[in-house]
Amino acid sequence: MRESSSSRVYQRSNRVHELTCEERAVYDTLEPSRIPQHVAIIMDGNGRWAGKRALKRFLGHQQGAESVQHVVETASRIDLPWLTLYAFSLENNLRRPKSEVSFLMKLLKSYLVSNVKRMNDNNVRMAYIGRTCELPGDVQDTMQWAAEQTAKNTGTTLTLALNYGARSEIVDSARNIVHAMIAEAAKRGVSLEDMLAAEGVDDAIKARIDEPQLSANLYTGHMPDPDLLIRTSGEQRISNFLLWQIAYAEIFVTERLWPDFRGLHLLEAIADYQQRERRFGGLGESSDEDLSDVLPTEAELAPR
Ligand code: FPP
Repeated sequence: MRESSSSRVYQRSNRVHELTCEERAVYDTLEPSRIPQHVAIIMDGNGRWAGKRALKRFLGHQQGAESVQHVVETASRIDLPWLTLYAFSLENNLRRPKSEVSFLMKLLKSYLVSNVKRMNDNNVRMAYIGRTCELPGDVQDTMQWAAEQTAKNTGTTLTLALNYGARSEIVDSARNIVHAMIAEAAKRGVSLEDMLAAEGVDDAIKARIDEPQLSANLYTGHMPDPDLLIRTSGEQRISNFLLWQIAYAEIFVTERLWPDFRGLHLLEAIADYQQRERRFGGLGESSDEDLSDVLPTEAELAPR
């Protein structure tokens, strides 16, 4: 059984001795109770990394796959529960040349086949989000195989977003809810219209379509929302990634290109995150909730 965030006992990971000296130096500055539950990363800059070296783009992607493994292993050593990586968007699928898409698919397959043993050695569980049923059959088979091979692991869950788009995810969530309503009506042996009318249409819809329901029907319904979103290579955009889930995530943008990103840089991003004050729309912990600071005095309200 996976620990919930509230029942998690905060202690230093017992695998810190596996961190490099540089990683350990940053890790030792971290507050164990404030390690994020979920880090999501927009891995960007493979093409630029290759271009700077006058190499073909595919070599940038290949190097990017190496970075994935480095970062996942560091994540597992610090007991990060959830790591979600944007590996292939719906837009990449539609807008990149066929040759690049087909290379990325081959790279994904070979990455999974070559790294399943290392995933198991590091107690990493593989999962996927996105419209993965639209990917080539052989790629889906390898994905399923890797997920099955690592299903019993209890450490970091590495989720690869593949053929993923956040707007489509929200559409899929809404569709799931409607399908569930139709199934509910069929189970009761009434039409959908009669089922809703019996409860009052507005109340019936409000009870079935609300934020918790929409959230639960996202591909990430079983995960906590990301606390920290990292984007490499300096671009200040979200690119249709986890739009719903990052409502209150802290965002960390680094100029470093993804193929140069390592576990050390993940730890540095977490150190930066730990300096932030998260407010979730409130006033934050530093506020003493002294209403004299918030409410105007009579004099301040008086017309000037
Ligand atoms: C962005 O680089 C990255 C991608 C489109 C795909 C991410 C893929 C990998 C990190 C490698 C494979 C991953 C796995 C899990 C095997 P870009 O090509 O947009 O770079 P650019 O903006 O510099 O051109």
